[in-house]
Amino acid sequence: MPVTAYDLTGRTAFVTGAASGIGRACAVLLAEAGATVHCADRDSQGLDGTAALIKDRGGTARTHTLDVTDHLRLAEAVAACARLDVMAAVAGIMHSSPVLETRDEDLDRVLGVNFKGVLYACQAAARSMLASRTHGSIITMASGAVDTGGPGLLCYGAAKAAVVQLTKTLATEMGPHGIRVNAVAPGWIRTPMTDRHDDEAQARTEAFMSRMSPLGRVGDPEDIAHAVLHLASDASAFTTGQILRPNGGVTMPW
Ligand SMILES: NC(=O)c1ccc[n+]([C@@H]2O[C@H](COP(=O)([O-])OP(=O)(O)OC[C@H]3O[C@@H](n4cnc5c(N)ncnc54)[C@H](O)[C@@H]3O)[C@@H](O)[C@H]2O)c1
Repeated sequence: MPVTAYDLTGRTAFVTGAASGIGRACAVLLAEAGATVHCADRDSQGLDGTAALIKDRGGTARTHTLDVTDHLRLAEAVAACARLDVMAAVAGIMHSSPVLETRDEDLDRVLGVNFKGVLYACQAAARSMLASRTHGSIITMASGAVDTGGPGLLCYGAAKAAVVQLTKTLATEMGPHGIRVNAVAPGWIRTPMTDRHDDEAQARTEAFMSRMSPLGRVGDPEDIAHAVLHLASDASAFTTGQILRPNGGVTMPW
């Protein structure tokens, strides 16, 4: 496969959650690969930071301050891209509570952002790609939580499991139109989401997570961005409905 398969020159990408962590790394790398990148997030200051990083590297960025649970606003922002080639639906939140202490509002909030927010991004992207007959790529952000479970992970894990189901269903529906849909299920990645705000606790958690990986380390946002670039590009032209697991080998499902 020639390296040019990763070239996104002339293509347009839309990244949600682009103000921070994994979404920011995806936006920067897709821009470095040549795409014009539309960066969306509810954090406008963070978005400005991402756009500045992209421009510093000679790339092209547009920003959209929005909440992914607002499907009308999201659809409007996606429609603003004349033609969309890549959607990376990355925005998400963490929530942890034991099953017996989980309240309805916790479930609604986490499913709202982590599942419905991804669904709305996928719907907007698929509609745009169908209208322009673009053989695009849609990438959703799942989590290693779908393979492992864990105390407190009910809301978060349920939303991510729903993202996996959305990905597989949409892949079967969009395949005949040449639109690919895949999920990325990261392992433990060093971002503001996993920041314990306590150096000792952070070091303990990272040491534990590193011991779980045959590679002996935790992940960086760039590890995930490279997986997203692969799925966004022609290098993965025969890949759809799949869950890519950049997790340092912590889980190895069939
Ligand atoms: N960090 C990890 O270890 C890890 C592991 C597996 C999966 N993930 C997933 O990767 C994605 C990115 O996580 P991250 O670690 O980069 O976290 P992060 O907190 O650094 O970034 C999340 C971004 O999403 C944005 N966001 C949250 N809710 C939003 C909303 N309603 N509308 C618009 N934007 C919103 C935030 O403002 C932030 O910029 C999430 O979906 C997360 O569940 C992360």
